[in-house]
Amino acid sequence: MMNEIISPVQIKVEPVESSRIHEVDFENLVFGEKFSDHMFVMEYEDGSWKEPVIKPYGQIQISPALNTLHYGQAIFEGMKAFYKDENTINIFRPDVHHERLNNTARRMIIPETDYDTFITALEELLKLDYKWVPKKPGTALYIRPLIFASADLLAARSSDKFSYYIITSPVGAYYAEGFNPVKLTTTHEYVRAVEGGTGEAKTAGNYAASFLPARKAAQEGYTQVLWLDAKEHKYVEEVGTMNIHFLIGNTLVTPGLFGSILPGVTRRSVITLAKEWGYNVEERRISIDEVFDAHEKGELKEVFGSGTAAVISPVGLIHHKGKTIHIGDDKIGPVAKKLFDSITDIQYGRKEDTYGWVHSVKV
Ligand code: COI
Repeated sequence: MMNEIISPVQIKVEPVESSRIHEVDFENLVFGEKFSDHMFVMEYEDGSWKEPVIKPYGQIQISPALNTLHYGQAIFEGMKAFYKDENTINIFRPDVHHERLNNTARRMIIPETDYDTFITALEELLKLDYKWVPKKPGTALYIRPLIFASADLLAARSSDKFSYYIITSPVGAYYAEGFNPVKLTTTHEYVRAVEGGTGEAKTAGNYAASFLPARKAAQEGYTQVLWLDAKEHKYVEEVGTMNIHFLIGNTLVTPGLFGSILPGVTRRSVITLAKEWGYNVEERRISIDEVFDAHEKGELKEVFGSGTAAVISPVGLIHHKGKTIHIGDDKIGPVAKKLFDSITDIQYGRKEDTYGWVHSVKV
């Protein structure tokens, strides 16, 4: 018999006196607007992370001089937990998310965190708040770890104090379209990231900088911006809220990770599955002209995004420099559908997880 491994991490728990769960309409979940009863908190100062605690979710007190508010030294992750059965909640690929959190931390000179504390915190939060994990197909408990600079400091340099929180939120589909195709447009006016910048880090400023272009795109009727590279405005990068994939003939082309694209966890899962299913899989630069040419030749079979929040999101239309292409008659393509089904089957535990992607928590 294997010895049971007992985590060395002890997290003090201060449970809520009464739950707020009755405030949630689980039939009509909107992304990221309701927060579960408990949150994880750990503070960093004098060169080390202090005692972790799980306590009631609630307001935090900050000063107007908080370093993060001025300079944006803040990072986060986006993960999901899924209802399998009344005793089991599945977390999708927590190890890979934690690895990316630490990669982002290094880029933003935020102290790294250890995996034992992370996974113990998630397990404890799920044991306390398992009733907040929604059950309807297409829903999940979104997990948002975040770390921000917490010194009161107006000098433009790194903080020496940080706060680490994990909050959770029951969610439905990310886009208003649900699993229906979204509409994307490129922009010549703005760029998202450049190699050497912070595009591959999951840091707050990347998102703040994208809000104006996203709003302009929305005013023109597009769901999101399809970002092109910052130097030549030529190569497709990502969507900001998700990575992007193109099925050209029998080849799945995904923009390669050259420093300005977020290395998505769902992106990685898509590539693994597509390889296993026998597609040619290429991670490389792909120009927007190549996409439009492939469409012209009738070879662009499908375009879809991937992300934790977005899952697999079919793209029905791309607009670039006055031209618009429609992909797959604005319908969900078979490969996007198969990927969506396979990934969600693993996440909800409907199919065996032969990849070791799921971390099951007994609640
Ligand atoms: C996620 O997919 O989890 C993200 O963090 C993207 C964000 C726009 C919700």
